[in-house]
Formats: sequence, structure tokens, C-alpha cells
Amino acid sequence: MRNAVITGAWWFATAFAGGSLALMAGRYKEVPPPTSRPPSTSRPSPSPSPISLFPISTSPISASPISPSPRIPSAPPAAFVPEYPSYFGNRIYIPADNPLTPEGVYLGRMLFYETKLSANNKLSCASCHRQELAFTDGRAFSPGVDQIPTTRNAMSLQNLLWVRQLFWDGRASGLEEQALTPLTNTHEMGQSMLNSAAKLRRISGYPALFKAAFGNDTITKEKIVKAIAQFERTLISDHSRYDGYLQGSYQPSQAETDGMNLFMTDPQPGKGIRGAGCAHCHGGPKLFLEQFHNNGLDSAPIDPGRAAVTGMAADKGRFRVPTLRNIALTAPYMHDGRFATLREVLDHYSDHIAEGPTLSPQLRQASNTTGGHALALSDTEKRSVISFLLMLTDSTFIKDPRYADPHSYKTREKTKTGETKAQVSKTGSQDQGQSPALETQSSKRGPQNPTLKILPAKHYPQKSMAHKLIKLIKSVNA
Ligand code: HEC
Ligand code: HEC
Repeated sequence: MRNAVITGAWWFATAFAGGSLALMAGRYKEVPPPTSRPPSTSRPSPSPSPISLFPISTSPISASPISPSPRIPSAPPAAFVPEYPSYFGNRIYIPADNPLTPEGVYLGRMLFYETKLSANNKLSCASCHRQELAFTDGRAFSPGVDQIPTTRNAMSLQNLLWVRQLFWDGRASGLEEQALTPLTNTHEMGQSMLNSAAKLRRISGYPALFKAAFGNDTITKEKIVKAIAQFERTLISDHSRYDGYLQGSYQPSQAETDGMNLFMTDPQPGKGIRGAGCAHCHGGPKLFLEQFHNNGLDSAPIDPGRAAVTGMAADKGRFRVPTLRNIALTAPYMHDGRFATLREVLDHYSDHIAEGPTLSPQLRQASNTTGGHALALSDTEKRSVISFLLMLTDSTFIKDPRYADPHSYKTREKTKTGETKAQVSKTGSQDQGQSPALETQSSKRGPQNPTLKILPAKHYPQKSMAHKLIKLIKSVNA
């Protein structure tokens, strides 16, 4: 266990994560907690009350680091250590020049939901990545600022800390690099980074947020993508029923158990073993292996997939194996959103695998009958696999207030004409009207998002291991 503390500041973060994460924190000075507060030695059980990633709204101290006040800490931000179950493994990816800090994560969250980062001031990352849908948008393709739809299905954003090759074809090798694509692509948010930086500069509060996160208030392309990447790295889904099962606190139903067995088992008709063989690619507790495969959608794929990145014919029609966590929430399915339901997905794997030169050998061979060419699962078996897939839904993740729109009071205050009260009541630049979150203290508007609640403690899997998402920052004075 480590405590990373800002010297002379009013809050600290406690962490219990793996060694590699603690290493990332190495840049910052680690000091013992202040003597006025005993070092915490036991892991707190999950808090039933909403917690925020940043102490602004919960801190009893009135001065906030987001208001341009002299109380902004001059010390470097404390390391922010996300927590995850040990079975997720420590093969995480945080670039050495972008360690997580509470301020960086909070700024990233503001930017993730910031419509000013788009050319028409209407789209944010969250337009295509909605929290309640595990950060997808429910559409096969998503319209950008020019109304032209994307050519692929918006991917879910979860457990990205473990993903090195982003996008369906793995063409981006880090979240910082990845973010530049939607921000600047003319069919997505369509705005140059220079314009984005200039717009943010004009919104009061943002310079102070950048200063708190990165030490000075200049706003640059690099800092924008770094902050967004920091926020994305905190999107950890580990509270599904499957996690409860892995931790011994949830007893799956018969259908779930049958489905899990089919999912995990390769068919071996010679031995009378029936299986669906899904874990071959979607295996492990994170429900994906970082591999590229052709899963038999088309014999002549229209989208080259991985081949566009590697230029190799052998990669034609191969795509990254996506995680199946929260899969019930992320329809439609596949890189082109061709399947509307999980039943259609099961029908595909069971009965409609398309032969082709790059089809995964695993899928080419998998069959529940000797010499057969298809899994040919029964109706009951398909339903059982779906029961297992439903176990992967994490209702805590999609309601977690730490991931919610920090500007969302704007939506609540929407008037009938669609304008926000802030816009109506403010004169001066539109920009200021759009982001008053940065100008006002939260005490006036109450908790950050009172409509969102964390589920009561009984819904959490047992705290048998160090898995709680993120240990939070509390006011030392609390
Ligand atoms: C217009 C819709 C749209 C917007 C806006 C958008 N995205 Fe996406 N996002 C997509 C689509 C579509 C893909 C898959 C594209 C591909 O694979 O070629 C994607 C993929 C991603 C991925 C890859 C996930 C993975 O597992 O590889 C990340 C990360 C991501 N988006 C983050 C963001 C961020 C950050 C923003 C805001 C800066 C953003 N997106 C804005 C549609 C959108
Ligand atoms: C050979 C590897 C492989 C096997 C085996 C496999 N999948 Fe997949 N799966 C993939 C790949 C690759 C994709 C993405 C394909 C694409 O979009 O073109 C995918 C996509 C999916 C999706 C859509 C995910 C999304 O976000 O849209 C679901 C659901 C899914 N698989 C479920 C299963 C189930 C259930 C099984 C077992 C019956 C299974 N898969 C077996 C490789 C595999």
C-alpha cells in the first residue's frame, strides 16, 4: 500500500494497486500522511454515497482548484492510482510522460464531455460514447459534425488501461494518439487542435484547470489529449456478476453456469464434449485477448481491417477482438454494427461462419459434430451462452458518478427553448455561458449529479481482494 500525498495540500489519494502502478507514481514525492490523520491501514468498504473523482464538490473547503484562485496547489499533482482486481493483471499501459493525477483525470472528464471541442460546438466524445451504454452510442454508425456517418461502429470504452492497439484495426498505439483522430477528423468532431485550444482558452476556468493538471495554464494539443487519455484510463469495469463469481460472492444460475462452460470450452465431438469455444479469443477475466482475427463475417470482406495497417494480405478482414464486458449494453455488434441482438451474434457463430482465406483456423475447425463445419449449437445452448453474456453487465460502471458528465447541471437546467439558464442569464461571450461549471462553486448547485446514485453496498461483490476501483481523495480536514 502506498500513500501519495501532496505536500501542504488539502487532500491525498490512497492506493492499493499493483507494483507497476505504484512505479508510475514514482515521479512524485511520496510522503507519509499528515500526522493529524492516521494512516489508513484497512481498505474501506465501498462507499454507498456518490463520490467524485475530484474533491471539488465534496470538499468542505470553499476554495476550489478550478477557480482561478491563489489556492491552486503549486506542488505537482499527486499521483492518482486506479484500482482493479488482481485478476486483471498488471500489464497496464500508462506512458511515462502522462502519469495519472486527480487534476488531470478531472480535466480529462471535463474535456470528454466538452462540446466546444467540435467544429459546430455540438459534439463531444460523449456524443458517440455514452456512459449508460458502456460508452457506445447504440448506432451502427455515428454522424459527425458534417452529418457524414463514421465507417465503423463506435467502440465501448472500458478497461482501456490494458489495451495497447486501439481502434478496430489497432492503428493507434496509445490513448493520447487515439484522441487526435475523433477530435480532428472532419467526419467526427472536425476541429483543428489549434482552434480547440483557442476556444478552451476563452472559457473561463479552463486555464486554471490546465494549470492544476499540468503546472501552467497554457492550453496545448498535447495537454488536451493527455488529459482525455487520463480520464479514459480510469474507466474500469469490474463490478459485473461475473466479477462476483470470480470473487466467490455470486452463485451463477444453472443457465449462466451452462453458458459459461460452453463459452470456455472448445468443442471436442470425439470425446463427447460440447462447446462454443468463445474464450479462445474472448478469454480471460477482461473478456478479450489482444489479438486480431477474422471471425467469419464475410468471405470477401469489404473493410480490410487490420490489413490497412500492416499491408499484409493475411490480415484482410481481421479485426481486434473486442471485450465482451457490458456486451448487453453495446448493440449493435461487430465493426459495422451488422447484428442487432446477441441472438444474431450466436446464430452467426453457430451456423453462419463465412469461409474465406483469412478465416481464423479456430473458427474453421470448431464443430460439435465429428467432421462437421459449424458449431451447430442448440437453441438452449445459445440461450445459455447469452445468459452468461448478460452476467458481464456492470450496472455500477454505467452509473458511476465519477464518469458522468461534469457539466450535466446544464442539462438539468435546460429551459423549454433548449437554452441553458446559464446562457440566458449571461451576457458576453457564448463560451462563458457554455461552461459555467468552471466559474461557480458547486455548493450552489449541490452534488455533481444528484440523479446518479451508487448502488447500495449489498450490490457490490465482497471485498475479498484489493479491487475497489479508485481510492479517493479526501479532505485532510474532513
Ligand atoms: C462521431 C462519433 C465519435 C466521436 C465524436 C468520438 N468517437 Fe471514439 N470512436 C468512434 C468510432 C466509430 C470508433 C471506432 C473507429 C475505428 O475503429 O476505426 C471509436 C473508437 C474509439 C476508441 C478506441 C477504443 C478501443 O477499444 O480501441 C477510443 C479510445 C475512442 N473512440 C475515444 C474517443 C474520444 C476520447 C473522443 C473525443 C475526443 C471520441 N472517441 C469521439 C466514434 C466516435
Ligand atoms: C477466432 C476468434 C474469435 C472467437 C472464437 C469468437 N470471437 Fe467473437 N469476435 C472476434 C472478433 C475478431 C470480433 C470483432 C469482429 C468484427 O467486428 O469484425 C468479435 C466480435 C464479437 C462480438 C461483437 C462485439 C462488439 O463489441 O460488437 C460478440 C458479441 C462476440 N464476438 C461474441 C462471441 C461469442 C459468443 C463467441 C463464441 C460463440 C465468440 N465471439 C467467438 C473473435 C472471436
